Amino acid sequence: MAAKSQVVELANQVGTLVAGLLEEWDKRPSEQPPFDSTVWSELATQLQSATELLTSLTTPPASFVRTLQLRHYDLVAYQIALEFDLFTAIPIGLTATLPAIANHSGLDCGRAGRTLRLLALHGVFRETEEDTFGHTPQSTLIAQDESIRSALAIQMCEMYQAASSTADAIQSVVKENKDISPFAARFGVPIYDYYQKHPEKADRFSLGMKGAMELDKDSLVDLQNSYPWAQFQGGTVVDVGGGTGHVSRFLAKTDKLHSQDLPSVSFAVQDILVPQTLENTTNVKFHQHDFFQPQPSTPDAKAFLLRHVLHNYEDKDCIRILSALVPALEAQGETASPVLLINEGVVPEFGELSARDLHLTLRRGDLCMMVTLSAQERTRNQFQSLLSAADPRLQIRGVYGSGVTRLIEVHLNSGASTA
Ligand SMILES: C[S@@+](CC[C@H](N)C(=O)[O-])C[C@H]1O[C@@H](n2cnc3c(N)ncnc32)[C@H](O)[C@@H]1O
Repeated sequence: MAAKSQVVELANQVGTLVAGLLEEWDKRPSEQPPFDSTVWSELATQLQSATELLTSLTTPPASFVRTLQLRHYDLVAYQIALEFDLFTAIPIGLTATLPAIANHSGLDCGRAGRTLRLLALHGVFRETEEDTFGHTPQSTLIAQDESIRSALAIQMCEMYQAASSTADAIQSVVKENKDISPFAARFGVPIYDYYQKHPEKADRFSLGMKGAMELDKDSLVDLQNSYPWAQFQGGTVVDVGGGTGHVSRFLAKTDKLHSQDLPSVSFAVQDILVPQTLENTTNVKFHQHDFFQPQPSTPDAKAFLLRHVLHNYEDKDCIRILSALVPALEAQGETASPVLLINEGVVPEFGELSARDLHLTLRRGDLCMMVTLSAQERTRNQFQSLLSAADPRLQIRGVYGSGVTRLIEVHLNSGASTA
């Protein structure tokens, strides 16, 4: 009966969510839903979770398996559409005939049509009349933004190729040598060497990373709003492995950090690679540093930020990165020690309540890390284990934020034993 009452509850929830969406739509009547409304987006995410769960509770197991066994062919259709540029073959707001699409893409009409028709069943493209195709809001976004198209292409092409032979890789190579990821097993070289060997793919990878950030910009807003950054006014936040500094630049713009009474917060972005095109600004400066080497002392450092760094590494390397920070966390003389801020996905512990969509994203991200880098996403307890292994004085004091990526605040507890 528990399942039946859950079905009833989910059905009611679906009804309430749809009513909320329609109310939001009525505020801005138009042919398309108000996709850019935050309220719409939150309700739609909850609706997706509720309907997926309702479907999984009500679908007979045999029909679930029947569907599942063919599901990867959806990804094959995306792979073809991205590699043969079917998205840009159709002008936005217009339609194109199959021969025109084939001509633009270099695909034959047969394969182009079969691919488009499968994707149309997922709401990506629509067949407006026989052999003529137009866009939907979903395909329009992919068609008009090359960085978003690249973000998808990385996953549907090279990552999917590696992912599809993961079990083989685990059986043959990975079992004996944990340092070799399924990606490396598939392509013969680790991921960053692969991109060095294939410059055209590397360009798409860089653009795709930009697209992925664009899709994930809510996580920066959450980072900005959920933590009291103003406490660091007059000091420096060191953004370790900060890449091109997009996070520091975003945080440096926070209004709350600029008060008339106190100097602003400064950001020092450290990375192994600092392209010459990056220019220092008043509040954001770039420095070359290898995070496996001891952290140099920054006299006014109030915080060290590690964002999306640890999930790229297996435990032993994470412990090296964290250990290298310890001297800088203690070297403050009379003043309080800087805090360590880890901004990563935090996987729910067993039994911990969590929104299904966030949990699913984290679990998928975890397998992405397994495939590409033999690395992983972690729970709060797993982060604490890494910190304790690096130095028993490192203790998590709090976890901030409500999205997939959260901020873990860590203090060097001077009372704890180092033994
Ligand atoms: C996944 S990116 C994260 C970038 C940034 N923190 C963010 O959240 O967008 C990892 C970064 O670590 C940098 N990196 C890799 N190895 C490094 C090392 N040994 N020392 C310092 N930075 C390194 C890479 O260049 C890259 O910018």
